[in-house]
Amino acid sequence: MTIAFGNDHAAREVRRELLDYLKGLGHTVVDFGYEGDGPADYPVYARKVANAVVKGEADCGILVCGTGIGMSIAANKVHGVRCAVCSDTYSAAKAREHNNANVIAVGARVVGVELLKDIFSAYLGAQYNPKYDPRIAMIADIERA
Ligand code: RB5
Repeated sequence: MTIAFGNDHAAREVRRELLDYLKGLGHTVVDFGYEGDGPADYPVYARKVANAVVKGEADCGILVCGTGIGMSIAANKVHGVRCAVCSDTYSAAKAREHNNANVIAVGARVVGVELLKDIFSAYLGAQYNPKYDPRIAMIADIERA
């Protein structure tokens, strides 16, 4: 899969390890993340990743900030994005299976780096179940309204 990846300063120290992990799973990673010194504004990176996903430049997106919350709020403002904050592997798998989440957001200040990898793996390894199509369509209806 092609994964759009974004992070702010809260994830700067783990971003390389996470990118290497994703590449090691055999994925292509488009890196929109921040690697500089000092603070960075998470909406900038959420927007880049969200746009890449809805434009079809990536199959899905992964966002890492302090909590995952700001990134997810920002990403979900982009039409067509279903971004879920995940702090455990069960939620990560269900985000795909039940909600067809095309982006996940995680918190580098909430979850350790090894669990972050497991969360990525759970999400990327899960498959959407189309029996949930009607509910996904209801979400799209809200978006259009
Ligand atoms: C940055 O301090 C922090 O607010 C950000 O990484 C994120 O957690 C926002 O939701």
